[in-house]
Amino acid sequence: MKTAITELFGIEHPIIQGGMHYVGFAALAGAVSNAGGLGIITGLTQRTPELLAKEIARCHDLTDKPFGVNLTFLPTFSAPPYPEYIAAIREGGIKIVETAGRSPEQYMPALKAADIKVIHKCTSVRHSLKAEQIGCDAVSVDGFECGGHPGEDDMPNMILLPRAAEELKIPFVASGGMADARSLVGALAMGAAGMNMGTRFIATKEAPVHINVKNAIVAASELDTRLVMRALRNTERVLKNAGVERLLEVEREKGAKLKIEDIHDEVAGVYPKVMIDGDMDAGAWSCGMVVGLIHDIPSVKELVDRIMLDAERLIRDRLMGFLGTESKASLKVA
Ligand SMILES: Cc1cc2nc3c(=O)[nH]c(=O)nc-3n(C[C@H](O)[C@H](O)[C@H](O)COP(=O)(O)O)c2cc1C
Repeated sequence: MKTAITELFGIEHPIIQGGMHYVGFAALAGAVSNAGGLGIITGLTQRTPELLAKEIARCHDLTDKPFGVNLTFLPTFSAPPYPEYIAAIREGGIKIVETAGRSPEQYMPALKAADIKVIHKCTSVRHSLKAEQIGCDAVSVDGFECGGHPGEDDMPNMILLPRAAEELKIPFVASGGMADARSLVGALAMGAAGMNMGTRFIATKEAPVHINVKNAIVAASELDTRLVMRALRNTERVLKNAGVERLLEVEREKGAKLKIEDIHDEVAGVYPKVMIDGDMDAGAWSCGMVVGLIHDIPSVKELVDRIMLDAERLIRDRLMGFLGTESKASLKVA
């Protein structure tokens, strides 16, 4: 399938694996790129720029295809040395960076000087337009359904994607709630040039996380995510568990007076406990409503191949079928 996104990034299929803390290691990014999508290493999971350089080198050993690095600009307990991370990205020969969180404006000159294509993740049309204006090459439009930080507008993709299509000149992918061929074809119909998946890629054989995490995703339904940290305007969609219940209890008690320190134990240092140790009640970890559509743990290649094959069937059989034989004939002539 050829779209503005496959052309921009030099990939076979319009499928991106979004950066994911403690999930987006070389093993997953390499597998996604080898399957014809765009794999992304999560920059800040690597505690130092030197460790990121090593992870990039590891991924180069796994694939000759393009892959990217995610740089997230979110409120953290200690500010990371972004210029040094960008140097590691540039020196690692990376040509695609997924930015997220705050605007990447201040880092655009450094990224562009290194001939890096930037896809910025946005949860609103206004932020997408800003990304376009500051020179981003593409946008990942992240709807309210998404795992991670859906922003504060609560705008689902059924509205957000066609609105993005109305306003944007640069290509965009649909992100949040994407799981299969139906997601891809629906997103394309609404104006996107591909899709970005997070949660779906965790439940794959190659995702380097504890099996408990994959099993929890398969077992969960679309009703099992919760929004946390709303009072801090840092809303995150997470999978419910005992730690999240404790966190929500504190949030209810404190109301608008909530401070990040009040919930430190349920949000800080949780990822290694969940992703490496498989402690599923440790606290808040990002997870999308799309868990309701995830029923198996295939290899990344099986997943990507299945999506692309089913998408073709969906378009040719189901959608073209609605047009009737007469229209099909006229389309063939065209
Ligand atoms: C476990 C997990 C960790 C994530 N960590 C990050 C991150 O560090 N930076 C980032 O930009 N997005 C992060 N995301 C968001 C994903 O890149 C992607 O935008 C999101 O998962 C899309 O929604 P979906 O889960 O419905 O596919 C994370 C998502 C998950 C599920």
